Amino acid sequence: RRHALRPEAAAALTLLLGWILAQVAGAAGAANVLVAYNLTWKSTNFKTILEWEPKPINHIYTVQISTRLGDWKNKCFHTTATECDLTDEIIKNVNQTYMARVFSYPVGNGHTTSSDVEPPFTNSPEFTPYLDTNLGQPRVHSFKPVGTKLNVTVEDARTLVRINGTFLSLRDVFGKDLTYILYYWKASSTGKKSTKTNTNEFLIDVDKGENYCFSVQAVIPSRRTNSKSPESSTECTSQEKGIFRELSFIIGTVLFVVIIFIIVLLVSLYKCRKARVRRSGKETCPLNDA
Ligand SMILES: *[C@@H]1O[C@H](CO)[C@@H](O)[C@H](O)[C@H]1NC(C)=O
Ligand SMILES: *[C@@H]1O[C@H](CO)[C@@H](O)[C@H](O)[C@H]1NC(C)=O
Ligand SMILES: *[C@@H]1O[C@H](CO)[C@@H](O)[C@H](O)[C@H]1NC(C)=O
Ligand SMILES: *[C@@H]1O[C@H](CO)[C@@H](O)[C@H](O)[C@H]1NC(C)=O
Repeated sequence: RRHALRPEAAAALTLLLGWILAQVAGAAGAANVLVAYNLTWKSTNFKTILEWEPKPINHIYTVQISTRLGDWKNKCFHTTATECDLTDEIIKNVNQTYMARVFSYPVGNGHTTSSDVEPPFTNSPEFTPYLDTNLGQPRVHSFKPVGTKLNVTVEDARTLVRINGTFLSLRDVFGKDLTYILYYWKASSTGKKSTKTNTNEFLIDVDKGENYCFSVQAVIPSRRTNSKSPESSTECTSQEKGIFRELSFIIGTVLFVVIIFIIVLLVSLYKCRKARVRRSGKETCPLNDA
């Protein structure tokens, strides 16, 4: 009576036994083949790779991918790698939901044929490219002051999504779902401001003569998760000032040369006049009449 199992313990034991049985049954079909685990989608701007563990020892992997219709297709057939590029499959329709699975085949003791027991496999999480692909770090394409405004344009990254053989840009794929945020601040202060656009161009008001620094970030506001890209590298308008400084240096040099020239001219005129006055007693120098 004292050693009778309590209901919770009994339930736990049953679960454990069930699990052990399942493991044994699974292992029986494929002699101690390691099944893949930790299947992870790595996807940025639709470039999509499935990764998993562990490194194979006495087995090889084959990946299959399918939409919800169950139209399984082999990829990375009999590979010893632990990743598989599935970009070509998922770009066919970026709004579909895809599933993948990784099979483990033993190698060495007789090849398993497809009619044999099904090799063990692991399912990946579901993946919907339009919602799940990460937004890559954007790049500032160009920036230039236009009067008291600053024009900043963001490079429209090319994706691997194709229509009729031509690659679509991020903007082509996401349309108005994609916005960019511009973070900007005076180089002399730290107070950041931000503004949004659903194009790839910003036109912001700036104070004349001030240098500004800024970075951009891609955002899909309608997404619940991973809606933001990393921020771009920071750019500053000091480059413009550098050009301006160079220009004033050139102007300064030219002015300096002109002033030296005038001084030399005046001195020589003065000397010439003196010489003539000394020689002929006349008051004027012929040069002065010209
Ligand atoms: C699965 O991957 C994550 C991160 O990639 C890691 O933290 C975790 O330890 C892994 N799990 C196993 C069982 O190795
Ligand atoms: C994917 O879905 C989004 C919104 O649901 C839509 O705007 C877009 O046109 C769709 N793209 C394709 C290629 O079907
Ligand atoms: C901003 O710069 C881009 C690229 O240089 C140019 O195409 C666009 O017309 C400019 N916009 C304005 C308002 O000046
Ligand atoms: C692709 O090309 C075909 C024929 O050239 C055309 O009918 C179709 O509209 C094109 N599709 C798109 C999305 O441009």
